Amino acid sequence: MNTETDFSTLNSEASSDWSTDVLIIGSGAAGLRAALAASESTDVTLITKTTLKESNTLYAQGGIAVAMNVDDTVDLHVKDTCSAGCGLCDIQVVETMVAEGIPRVNELLEWGADFDWEGTLPRFTQEAAHSRRRIVHKGDATGRETTDVLVQRVLNTERIQVISNAFAVDLLTDAVSSTDDNSTTCYGVSAIIEGQLKYLYAKATILATGGLGRLYPCTSNPEVATGDGFAAAWRAGCELIDMEFVQFHPTTLFLDGAPSFLISEAVRGEGGRLINIRGERFMDKYHEKGELAPRDVVSRAIQNEMFQTDFPCVYLDITHKPADFIQERFPTIFATTKRYGLDINIDLIPVRPGAHFMMGGIRTNAETETNLRGLYACGEVACTGVHGANRLASNSLLECLVFGVRAGTNAASYASSLTCESPPKIQIEKCETEANTIGLGDDVILELKDAIRETLWENVAIERYQEGLELTLSDLEEIGAELNLHPSSSMSIQTTDVGLCETVNMLIVAWVITHAALTRDESRGAHFRADFPDEDETGWQKRTVMAQDKEPEFVKLRSN
Ligand code: SIN
Repeated sequence: MNTETDFSTLNSEASSDWSTDVLIIGSGAAGLRAALAASESTDVTLITKTTLKESNTLYAQGGIAVAMNVDDTVDLHVKDTCSAGCGLCDIQVVETMVAEGIPRVNELLEWGADFDWEGTLPRFTQEAAHSRRRIVHKGDATGRETTDVLVQRVLNTERIQVISNAFAVDLLTDAVSSTDDNSTTCYGVSAIIEGQLKYLYAKATILATGGLGRLYPCTSNPEVATGDGFAAAWRAGCELIDMEFVQFHPTTLFLDGAPSFLISEAVRGEGGRLINIRGERFMDKYHEKGELAPRDVVSRAIQNEMFQTDFPCVYLDITHKPADFIQERFPTIFATTKRYGLDINIDLIPVRPGAHFMMGGIRTNAETETNLRGLYACGEVACTGVHGANRLASNSLLECLVFGVRAGTNAASYASSLTCESPPKIQIEKCETEANTIGLGDDVILELKDAIRETLWENVAIERYQEGLELTLSDLEEIGAELNLHPSSSMSIQTTDVGLCETVNMLIVAWVITHAALTRDESRGAHFRADFPDEDETGWQKRTVMAQDKEPEFVKLRSN
């Protein structure tokens, strides 16, 4: 069996280089599943920012949406996904995800995933905006179960080499030497490993670095989610699409001394009620589906209640359910809140919205190809168009499994098609700018990160408006000045300071999100403009594409 390995153990010649056929960056469900698929035909190296298990996947509570229940069909799941996506989903890619999701989930079950079961079928639960009970789950720890199964399999696969504590910095491309703008090829990544900048060369590279919730002060995401993959892709010349669509989950725990922690939508799916500080149940005022309205509607309603009552949170009440049901169905939430003094059998849970999921990302087709040859992307960092303007609950793990396999298979076949023995050893040109050599203390880095988070929370969160968005762009430029770079910078990074890299990455991604949000002067899905509160059905049935040194471009949806 393999283990998670330190680079120096693996690379005993102490060279700063490493070569592989397929390099996978990120170890959430998408990266792990891609590694397993690619390893069926080629050698794979998987690098991860901290440990193999740490990712957004690990913390996913709800489950995996899949059309396997007796009263369910692929068509119904496609319909619910597209209706949550508010007219911006690519229906053909949605059909692919929903149909291929069934064998992907069956495969997980065959590999030993111990999901909750009822008779001959998984016990399907209900979540918002689903017309059927279709969420397979393991209590409220589906992400942990999925991670455990995939990690075990990866570690048992000889052809997969895992390198932990490797912070991917910049994609290695031949952009400088290439004469043709449209033919940039990616050959791996530079990474900070054991305090040094190393080059990891690959015939094919897959970005599966996950999300960016940590750009906001309130989030359900773990500390690693600082948007690094989006920023590296931006610097390398990738197109980013739909970046204005950040999903805010309505219910993250708001408790003194407790970390930001998700309180699953499944709690509302099982009958949980939202009430304000005055004890009033309020969701029926906002939507016919009450607590199970789409996430953006519930998040805005909560924010409004907080404002109306001048109180920093609302409450989720599940106390009317039997205690043994609560403990069995939500063991993680029960245990975590207990640690901070709450007994959810009798106590209300203080909650408020937090950044949860990025619908946009690196533009890919259904084959997970990006606009750089040899570079693939899957999972949250990628945008195939399956989520449109708002993701349906529990479609994210499904996306990771389906497009993880597609990325792994396609990258392996591309790598095998190359005639070269090993990938070319691209060097990143040294640019001795202050941004790269600057030595900022840890306290300054924390201050800059907080400043990015504050301005995003204030102006680029649940409700946006033009003046606020413009203010944030100028705040970001000021923060950039401290780092001696413009927030849209495409300059490669040569520092070995992970905190500094994260700050630069957060700045770039914050700028792209804000710019995209300013461009879309309508409200749709997770993007709500208080100054343009309605959906512009005719003018804005299109997606926003951003790339370095270019004005935003708009792509019309394929006619389906
Ligand atoms: C949740 O459990 O509420 C989150 C599930 C999801 O984001 O799909």
